[in-house]
Amino acid sequence: MSVRRLDPVQPVNFAFTPSNLVFAKETIAKYPQGKQASAVLPILWRAQEQNGGWVTRAAMEYVARMLDMSFIRVYEIATFYTMFQLSPVGRKAHVQVCGTTPCMLRGAEDLKEVCKRKIHSEPHHLSPDGDFSWEEVECLGACVNAPMVLIWSDTYEDLTPQTFEHVLDEMAAGRTPKPGPQNGRQFSAPEGGPLTLTDRSLYNGGAPPEPTVPLFAEPAASAPPSRAARPESAADETAPAIASPSPVKTEEAENARRKTRTRAEANATPEKTPSRVARAKKIGATSTVRQPRASEVEGAESPEKEPKT
Ligand code: FES
Repeated sequence: MSVRRLDPVQPVNFAFTPSNLVFAKETIAKYPQGKQASAVLPILWRAQEQNGGWVTRAAMEYVARMLDMSFIRVYEIATFYTMFQLSPVGRKAHVQVCGTTPCMLRGAEDLKEVCKRKIHSEPHHLSPDGDFSWEEVECLGACVNAPMVLIWSDTYEDLTPQTFEHVLDEMAAGRTPKPGPQNGRQFSAPEGGPLTLTDRSLYNGGAPPEPTVPLFAEPAASAPPSRAARPESAADETAPAIASPSPVKTEEAENARRKTRTRAEANATPEKTPSRVARAKKIGATSTVRQPRASEVEGAESPEKEPKT
């Protein structure tokens, strides 16, 4: 990158035109209160456009006052970003030649030779008539169409020294050549037309080929209809009915639960109940297991009471 300094010859004043002043106010209003300095880039860019393609010291001071910034902060921005020009540029074209690797490998050096021959031997100098200037810049993001140049807001791509000279000649004549690829291709499509998917049968009116295997097999005649295909009424017919609980069965279940509970109490381990162990020791019992009553034993018959005599 070249050393970026302000041009030694500077105009004294700068002020936005009424329309650019409206633009500046609208741009500033997009930012929250206290963050107006964030609008410095678009406003400085508009100042450069109004000033014929470069920013003057007076323009930087004007923008700094507008955004309530110190001059040095605007100066830092204008001298850091190479999109801001610090010296007068050509009236008809300022040519920015990409010199980064892809463009360099594809002939950027030849384009620079054209600039040196047709504009000036040194970058950042005006042509004798003041209509053209040029510089080398870093990648401009159109590497797939290398080599390329940027002139104002348009890119000219896929250049050769001959087509580049033609672009410059057109501009010198006051015409605007068509931007984009200069070798006839569309955008970054292959030169000479498509190279893949060229089989015309692929584009048979959009009709897909007949399938050789049916996509969905027909169900066998004996197979029952699938669940999804079954009509809702049929599903209702085959659905099992939910029986309500019978009161008789509920009583039987309660009796069974009661018997189970009784057996569990009979088999309970007494050692796990200290109070029962202590009670057994106190009475001198050899076993602490409570013997179930005859009525609690399943299947046991009630002893017949002896008739009183
Ligand atoms: S290298 Fe030239 S545009 Fe990216």
